Amino acid sequence: MTQRLADHAQPTDIPGNPRSDWWREAVIYQVYPRSFADGNGDGMGDIPGIRARLPYLRDLGVDAVWLSPFYASPQADAGYDVADYRAIDPMFGTLHDADGLIRDAHALGLRIIVDLVPNHSSDQHEWFKQALREGQGSPLRARYHFRPGKGENGELPPNDWESVFGGPAWTRAEDGEWFLHLFAPEQPDFNWEHPAVRDEFRSILRFWLDMGVDGFRIDVAHGLVKAEGLPDIGDHEQLKLLGNDVLPFFDQDGVHEIYRSWRQILDEYDGERIGVAEAWTATVDRTAKYLRPDELHQAFNFQYLGTGWDAEELRKVIDQSLDAMRTVGAPTTWVLSNHDVVRHLTRLGGGVRRARAASLLMLGLPGSAYVYQGEELGLPEVTDLPDEVRQDPAFVRAAGQDGFRDGCRVPIPWTAEGASYGFGAGGSWLPQPEVWKTLAVEAQTGDPDSTLELYRSALALRREHPGLGAGTEVEWADAPVGVLAFRRPGGFMCTVNAGEGPVTIPAPGGLLLASGELGAEADGSVTLPPDTTAWWAV
Ligand code: GLC
Repeated sequence: MTQRLADHAQPTDIPGNPRSDWWREAVIYQVYPRSFADGNGDGMGDIPGIRARLPYLRDLGVDAVWLSPFYASPQADAGYDVADYRAIDPMFGTLHDADGLIRDAHALGLRIIVDLVPNHSSDQHEWFKQALREGQGSPLRARYHFRPGKGENGELPPNDWESVFGGPAWTRAEDGEWFLHLFAPEQPDFNWEHPAVRDEFRSILRFWLDMGVDGFRIDVAHGLVKAEGLPDIGDHEQLKLLGNDVLPFFDQDGVHEIYRSWRQILDEYDGERIGVAEAWTATVDRTAKYLRPDELHQAFNFQYLGTGWDAEELRKVIDQSLDAMRTVGAPTTWVLSNHDVVRHLTRLGGGVRRARAASLLMLGLPGSAYVYQGEELGLPEVTDLPDEVRQDPAFVRAAGQDGFRDGCRVPIPWTAEGASYGFGAGGSWLPQPEVWKTLAVEAQTGDPDSTLELYRSALALRREHPGLGAGTEVEWADAPVGVLAFRRPGGFMCTVNAGEGPVTIPAPGGLLLASGELGAEADGSVTLPPDTTAWWAV
């Protein structure tokens, strides 16, 4: 174990090193900067806070850290409304802090992935302010989507598109023209047909690559290109169509050209810098298109995230995902939680037992896995936040894409005592529930039954065991109804009881790790209680 960390910490294991394909089986930890650690006690997480906690992430055993946006932003959508792509918001620190973060992470053997938000800017971005100032007909407006309205006096929106956050996707500027925003009105969509937009983002990529980042998570990667003429959708319930290829603003074929040009830039840099698509598409096959060899490296597997705790459904989505990604030579990814969805402990409906079983299944699959801050502590969704503290624009606009998102964004607990449970020296921008006390990092550390120690053990095994993570295949074994059992090369097997009652099976081999206690039978077989996953050396 000590040896492993020492090896991993070699600075040569970072950009510039000859090792390739690090991302194919990487465990990538999502930091939500507002809610991870607060270095200056103002109640809001920041980069100095993250820097101070990097050793925790190294010891947890993750390979890379993805940071949600920390750029200059009025925070109309928690930083996904960027006013300056080359500056850090003062609330999070400075560029100097970001540089220090990247350097510290690399010194610890961790890679850094930053969030890039190319579909839209903030309405406080210089280009959008110019577009408003210059008025109708100005070429500077062409970098966004401005259109005259319909109706006698242009009082109706130019088409029938709806914002993901609810309400029309158009807002009228003071001079009477309308501008498009697929999200909040403070997030106007860029016009990706405009060469200046394309040039600007290539330059932004280079800016951060020069700073040393190891990759980008690309926000709304499926949204950049809109169907020509911005046609009406017609008589559909639009929200039901999100992630459906009939929408004229999502998953248009034109996006792929953009990612091909970005891939060329990523490949100019040493150390395998990667692009990760946040692409909500209708099928895993559509997602695979973003991962053709000359496009991006990974995409989130939202089909997996959207699958309930059901053995048959899980097996189906695992097979489909592996098959789809194999056709383009990309690794499959797995994700259960992020800052936009209800935490999986709550969403899967089976409490901490089921959450632990789901996590161990995810980490036993081949490919790359995403862990959202706090899931390693077994944090539940916070469901009783008072309305007045909520900041999610989806809540304010009263129609969320996945329900309201503040409940998974509550600052995480580090210590059992103290202001904001060690999140910072002051308070916390969202109130933390009392149960945080028992779920704090400090409270779980050293307790072999804790979820934190389960994650630590699982991630350590992933590094030590040759069969875990690598490859693109699972070999399914016969199993009773409600149970998943698969083998992996290198002598690894995973069994999952997603059914309702206990099942007894012949012990597949030596137990490596289990998400809950197993029953040992006199004849050498084992009983898997419901909501339990076990890893075996076979
Ligand atoms: C992505 C982000 C989400 C944000 C939206 C608009 O889906 O994950 O948090 O609200 O894009 O940028």
